[in-house]
Order: sequence, then C-alpha cells, then structure tokens
Amino acid sequence: MKEKSIELLNRAVADELAAVHQYMYFHFHCDDQGYDLLAGLFRRTAIEEMQHIELLAERILFLGGEVDLKASAEVKKIHNVKEMLQMGGAMETESVNDYNKWANECAQNADSASKKIFERLVEDEERHFDQYDVEMENLEKFGDNYLALQSIERSKNISLNNPTGE
Ligand SMILES: [Fe+2]
Ligand SMILES: [Fe+2]
Repeated sequence: MKEKSIELLNRAVADELAAVHQYMYFHFHCDDQGYDLLAGLFRRTAIEEMQHIELLAERILFLGGEVDLKASAEVKKIHNVKEMLQMGGAMETESVNDYNKWANECAQNADSASKKIFERLVEDEERHFDQYDVEMENLEKFGDNYLALQSIERSKNISLNNPTGE
C-alpha cells in the first residue's frame, strides 16, 4: 500500500519537475522578448510547481520512501508564445487527469493523506490551466497587439523608473 503511494507521489514529482523546467524556459524567453506579463505568469507558476514538489517530497519521506528527483520530460525549445500557452495548457490538463486518478488510487489504498495532497494539487493545476487559457483567449482576440502592448508597457516602466535615460 505504501509502495504504491510512494510510486504515484514520485511520478508526480517527475511531472512537476518537468513543469518547473519548462515554465522557467518559457519565462526566460518571454522576458527576453519583452513580454513582462507572460514572463511573470510563467515564473510564478514555476515557483508554485516547485512548492508542489516540496509537498510531495515531504509525504514520500514520511512514508519511508526516497525522492527520485528526475524530470519526466526534456525541455521543449519553444519560442512562440501561442505554442507556449498551448503546451502549458496541455501539461496542466494532463496533471489534472493524472492527479484525479491517483487521488482515487490512494483512497482505495486507505492513504487519505496522499489523496488529500493530490486533491489540493488538482485545484492548483486547474487554476494554472485557467490562467493560460485566459492569456490564450487574449492572444486570439487581440493578436499581435496583445504582445506589442506588453513590450510598450515594459518601455514605459523603464522610462518612468529612469526618466533621464541614465
Ligand atoms: Fe503542480
Ligand atoms: Fe500547474
């Protein structure tokens, strides 16, 4: 029973680690292209996924297991914003499906603490999906203007914080 929970928790750690890497990669590239709003969203989401790893790892150690800190996937080198949001949305959907399933498996094994962790994660991943979905809708609605506005916003902030240009 414990072994099964430890296996599922470690699979989640691997997926969360892949998400941390992928979202940080998206963060760097949005930042580089001047899209501050999206850069911030990917960075904040990556940090939340890291906190998920912490929750999972604590539970694994409590159950007497070992934390395999290996990402389940390599980083995909995507530079296009629309593709980033699509991939982020797909990753969140997969996590929601897996964690719902694994919560049920833990319940069947009478491990309600692990079940609760998976349920808590489902709520966060649904929120992440929703955030990416909103940005995807904005991108579709406003097209390139959506990205141009983010770049303009950055220039404005730079000039306001540094009015003399020094
Ligand atoms: Fe997560
Ligand atoms: Fe997430």
